[in-house]
Amino acid sequence: MVIFKRVSDISEYIKRQKAAGAKVGFVPTMGALHAGHLSLVAAAKNAGCLVVCSIFVNPTQFNDAEDFKKYPITTDADVELLLGANCDVLFLPSEAEIYPLGTKAASAFSFGYLETVLEGEHRPGHFKGVGQVVSRLLQIVSPDFLFLGAKDFQQCCIVRHLLIQMVKADACFPAPELVVCPTLREPDGLAMSSRNRRLSEGQRAVAGNIYRCLVSIQAKQADAPFAVLKKECDDMLKSKGFHPEYISLAHYETLELLDEFQNGRPMIVLIAAVLGGVRLIDNMML
Ligand code: PAF
Repeated sequence: MVIFKRVSDISEYIKRQKAAGAKVGFVPTMGALHAGHLSLVAAAKNAGCLVVCSIFVNPTQFNDAEDFKKYPITTDADVELLLGANCDVLFLPSEAEIYPLGTKAASAFSFGYLETVLEGEHRPGHFKGVGQVVSRLLQIVSPDFLFLGAKDFQQCCIVRHLLIQMVKADACFPAPELVVCPTLREPDGLAMSSRNRRLSEGQRAVAGNIYRCLVSIQAKQADAPFAVLKKECDDMLKSKGFHPEYISLAHYETLELLDEFQNGRPMIVLIAAVLGGVRLIDNMML
């Protein structure tokens, strides 16, 4: 695996690899890697790509300074995991490489309705930060394929819109194909996340209840109104020590929020809940 820290070096390397016929598969991450990230690397490998992974804890997407400070940094272990996964290239930039003119000067994107609901409502500015860093990374890496995990479902919707905006702004921008990979889960159903390692033993023991809520809403959708199932889950999560932020039903493509199940429409249930100061999200398609 080749490790780059400078934009000029990785750009030059990728240009040469592409000229030699390589297809680049990009897995952007914030590190603290787990099996979910490695499944994205494996998906890129299986697609026959030269796999480029980035690790950069992007300050502009944290609306909560404490959350940024506490974000786990495990670079040595990450490098070992990527070596084991046969990743080809690791990009480990500094903040100055990503934001050479400072974070305030980075391009700003607007995502309209999409950035006002769910995560957007509870983490104001978060998706602006995601847009900034992903657009910058895409300009640097010029991937043919971009691999993201379905756990961050709204982020995938935002990035899809980002790609459209980047093409609109520059018709020559070679937009990658977005590949959304399934969420990997622990044996009790908890969605794999870098944040899980901040849970205490006791919190970890109950964390799988978010998944249980999703499964029960999916199983009972024909038998009870959404509001009833939502209340059931809200009560159950609270009884286990969670502070639920939202338990929402939405249209799968537009993320239009729905009050009730709608026959024949593709829907998704999304949950965000805080457990012992750790914010967990998950979702399930209906
Ligand atoms: O999902 C993440 O880890 C981050 O939001 C991403 C896409 C790497 C941007 O910083």
